[in-house]
Amino acid sequence: MSVERLSIRPYGPGDLPVWEQWELETDFSPYITHTRPAILEREEDRPSTETLIWMVEVGDLTIGAAWLEDISQGRTRARLSILLGHPRWWDQGLGTEAVRKVCNYGIFHMGLVEIFLHVRELNKRAIRCFQKAGFVVDEVFPRRRFPDGSIQHSIRMKLVNLNRGQY
Ligand SMILES: CC(C)(COP(=O)(O)OP(=O)(O)OC[C@H]1O[C@@H](n2cnc3c(N)ncnc32)[C@H](O)[C@@H]1OP(=O)(O)O)[C@@H](O)C(=O)NCCC(=O)NCCS
Repeated sequence: MSVERLSIRPYGPGDLPVWEQWELETDFSPYITHTRPAILEREEDRPSTETLIWMVEVGDLTIGAAWLEDISQGRTRARLSILLGHPRWWDQGLGTEAVRKVCNYGIFHMGLVEIFLHVRELNKRAIRCFQKAGFVVDEVFPRRRFPDGSIQHSIRMKLVNLNRGQY
């Protein structure tokens, strides 16, 4: 797939069935605990101002979603999450490109000065993706048990040095 064809667009309620299909077909449990933003887990099918959700598209195909949650008062900080719905779309640079686009929106349109995220230590693919997009490790938390039974560190990464040239 060509990264140049990747785009993001705002989530709409009609996207939920696609999302549910990804959750049925792909075992995300080794990688991510919350496969949806909290407002969708609570089945309130409508993003609020505290959560912004985008669908990731390549051509006509919707391949994933990314969202900003915990947007701080004053809209300076927000927490990023992302998933691509099927492993066949992984490892082609698409995640990195989607992260860049969402961060670009956060920086230029929202005025965010810090974007952070949490990632599991063993999720090397995600860590590499976030590093390519400019994130650095901010803090390593003590090992804990995750819902898939694994015991590992959780790592907070953040986008620092918001170099506008990169985005
Ligand atoms: C995380 C995710 C969004 C990344 O998107 P992606 O399109 O797969 O990522 P990219 O292709 O842009 O980058 C992945 C990088 O990790 C590398 N990689 C893959 N497996 C790896 C491993 N086991 N160890 C080290 N690097 C690895 C790839 O080679 C690539 O790096 P490169 O371009 O330098 O070769 C996607 O894989 C996904 O949705 N995963 C499941 C959900 C998830 O983990 N979400 C994040 C939770 S915090």
